[in-house]
Amino acid sequence: MSTIRSHALIVFLFFCGCGSASPKPLPTIPPPSPALSTDERAAILVAAMTQDEKLRLIHGTGEVLSAVPRGAAGHVPGIPRMGFPSLYLVDGSVGIGNTTGESTALPSAMASAATWDLDLAYQYGVVLGKDMRAHGVNVHLGGNVNLAGREPRTGRAFETKGEDPILAGRINAAHLLGTRDQNVVTCIKHFALNDQETGRELVNVVIDERAARETDLLAFEIGIKDADVQAVMAGYNSVRGAWCSESESLLTGVLKQDWAFPGFVVSDWFGTHSCGHAAMAGLDMEMPGSTHFSGMKAALEAGEVTQSRLDDMVHRIVRAVFAVGLYDRPTSPGTVDASANLAVAQAVAEQGAVLLKNIGDLPLPPGLGSIAIIGPNADIGVVSGGGSAGVTPMGGSALVEVSGFVGSWFPVRWLPSSPLAAIRAKAPGATVRFHDGSSASDAASLAAASDVAIVFATQWSSESLDRPALNLTDLVHRSSPLDQDELIRAVAAANGHTIVVLEGPGAQSMPWLSGVSAVLAAWYPGQRGAEAIANILFGDVNPSGKLPITFPKTHLDLPRVLIAGSSTPFDVLYDEGLRTGYKWFDAQGIEPLFPFGFGLSYTTFVIANPTVSLGGGNQLSVTVDLANTGTRTGAEVVQVYLSMPASLGEPPRRLVGWQKVTLPPGANTQVTIRVDGNSSAHPLGYWDEAARAWAIAPGDYGVYVGNSSRNASLAGTFRL
Ligand code: BGC
Repeated sequence: MSTIRSHALIVFLFFCGCGSASPKPLPTIPPPSPALSTDERAAILVAAMTQDEKLRLIHGTGEVLSAVPRGAAGHVPGIPRMGFPSLYLVDGSVGIGNTTGESTALPSAMASAATWDLDLAYQYGVVLGKDMRAHGVNVHLGGNVNLAGREPRTGRAFETKGEDPILAGRINAAHLLGTRDQNVVTCIKHFALNDQETGRELVNVVIDERAARETDLLAFEIGIKDADVQAVMAGYNSVRGAWCSESESLLTGVLKQDWAFPGFVVSDWFGTHSCGHAAMAGLDMEMPGSTHFSGMKAALEAGEVTQSRLDDMVHRIVRAVFAVGLYDRPTSPGTVDASANLAVAQAVAEQGAVLLKNIGDLPLPPGLGSIAIIGPNADIGVVSGGGSAGVTPMGGSALVEVSGFVGSWFPVRWLPSSPLAAIRAKAPGATVRFHDGSSASDAASLAAASDVAIVFATQWSSESLDRPALNLTDLVHRSSPLDQDELIRAVAAANGHTIVVLEGPGAQSMPWLSGVSAVLAAWYPGQRGAEAIANILFGDVNPSGKLPITFPKTHLDLPRVLIAGSSTPFDVLYDEGLRTGYKWFDAQGIEPLFPFGFGLSYTTFVIANPTVSLGGGNQLSVTVDLANTGTRTGAEVVQVYLSMPASLGEPPRRLVGWQKVTLPPGANTQVTIRVDGNSSAHPLGYWDEAARAWAIAPGDYGVYVGNSSRNASLAGTFRL
């Protein structure tokens, strides 16, 4: 009897097709109509997904980095039956990174911030987006807007946009928009307060809500509200006792509720600590694999995660692809207009370089007989920053050194842009000789025998590693460390016409400053850096960059003299609160080496006749006359700072607006700076802790106009 029954079962299975090896293919889902809204289109796909398809979208494949398709850092396979593309998540902040191959090595993001030019910052983002498309990758992990003011020694300063939330927020937003307009998903990171690399996976940031909202979080808020960002990367660190990747207050409270962020939150690489807890707190995607999210099925069954939350996670990922137009215009490997991208790289390097000192040697006069070029690898290239933001430049690197430094596994990459060659090209009649600086006395002898000495001082820095101080520290393991401060001193002592070109991540102290005749901060200038620097040194380009970060005299003037670190979880207390960057120096009455907003030109400007008006909705308008009183065409950045009602306890001044204006010699123009918040927090506002909202306080406000945070005079006052 039992034999008969089992035969009957076999016959039944045969006829219904169940139990066959290949399951019935799932139906093809036609593209949802573009006439529908982003959310409606996403909802159609999510509704048609199986549970397994959903569970595959919320984490990466965990492939070994070198094996991730298209050289990406992270990979989420697509769903072909729905036309949903595979996601390839790629760094970095200053070009396209990971193992994608060659792409445009842009100047650092800090250099872009130093241009104070939102249109050029948008072009920077366009280059990133075009390179993403050319590599066939589609989620860009570049929008690092951690502020470099709390800890300027952070190894990732070069990826940031400086210390001021409004300047950094807007420059970052312009980058993100430029990239997004190439139909690439953009990601803003590392949310939040991931301001030091030392112990970044163990540090717990202690900060009060108002200070966080008005500083580090404000920079994020601007990007999220003004740049259609669809991905946010949670930081490695924890804030007020909760890991960022499972902080309900940050991910759900601040981001998704207060800011109405519609996109998805992705973990930093291996930065997750739980499955159910993280998902319910607001994490939507785990990277690069599924260390914790592989347990999602079980978490659903156990009721730790709700089905509606899983559907929300998937919806957010799918809507991102529709929102930026990636579904309709998928990426596939192709070519890029290299010369157009390199032209942007050079323009950013030229506009972002900041002339800090010049007692008459710049621009270099024609007819120089001899020039000494001094500094490590200045014959072959310019240095770039290390870490996941590292970029293999077009045409290949000039040199890749193993850093060998404990704490960083990233190499030191020199980009193929030779200062020696660029300067030789500008001075065909001069004898241009090179010394690598390895012997200060030999370099000084060369300097003594030359009309002018130009020292290319390089400060490498990298993700995963902070600088111990702000002087020129050799972070690269060499048999005998190179002391570039000493090198500059020796060269300057030998030649009174010593010019220092700094290639560095951000703030720099200069114990040798009084001995040199000129200093140009060129940041990490990218793969057209040497050409840009030579154009500035010889006066073909008039410098117009302004510091997006304070240069202190010494790290002893920072809120924390030592960077906290430990091999077990530890706290860092941001009790300087609202006083970050120049606001710290202003509030404490400390004289910086060079203030935020500062930068010289080869021409002179006069800012005069300010008028201040306040319109409806607290729209502040400041008008000034700007005159170029010198002999060369140049650009000035007119900056507006605000003092707040005394009762608020704010730092003395905050930047609220600016405009960069180019004028020919002898010309003048009227410049109007309108201060409004776009859709994000209003620059006149403060965070009202009790109301848990931005508010504008009654009281007396002062408006200051000038060309640096320390050179701005009272333009007017108003009372609210
Ligand atoms: C970095 C992220 C980066 C990720 C992927 C992490 O180490 O902190 O910024 O996007 O790696 O490369």
